[in-house]
Amino acid sequence: MLDKLLATACMTLLSAGMALADSHGDLPGDPAAGEKVFRKCKACHAVGEGAEAKTGPVLNGVVGRTIAAEPGFDYSDALKALSEKDGTWTPEELDAFLTKPRDFAKGTKMSFAGLRKDQERADVIAYLATFSMEGGS
Ligand code: HEC
Repeated sequence: MLDKLLATACMTLLSAGMALADSHGDLPGDPAAGEKVFRKCKACHAVGEGAEAKTGPVLNGVVGRTIAAEPGFDYSDALKALSEKDGTWTPEELDAFLTKPRDFAKGTKMSFAGLRKDQERADVIAYLATFSMEGGS
């Protein structure tokens, strides 16, 4: 019983560590906590196998994905310009965007105020990092 708990805790720590291994690592993100934070995004975004675009694009594999690259999604000029400038959604880039989307990408269609808490952003990024491009985790 205790063994199992410990094993689960280790796995969680490991995957969180891997997700943020190449970031500045200011805060370790917790994917399980991030899943709860993601409830704030679910009205507009889906992840996982068979996920489809809603108001916002599917976010499978978004950590490390080219900015504004979900096929068939009609991105704003703001996000397309950001893609030309910065290229890829690194954890740092996502952290900056999610703090205040409309400040980071002026003119973005994402009408979301932002996640003020550093820990919430780290957690939701760690959660998103558990999904591959195909939606498997
Ligand atoms: C009200 C709807 C809405 C909510 C809520 C929302 N988003 Fe978005 N999101 C969008 C839209 C629309 C876009 C496309 C933005 C554009 O083209 O300017 C987007 C774009 C994105 C992108 C860029 C994707 C890409 O392919 O480049 C990321 C990452 C993202 N959202 C993450 C989140 C996260 C994480 C949350 C929750 C904390 C969230 N969003 C909440 C609507 C929303």
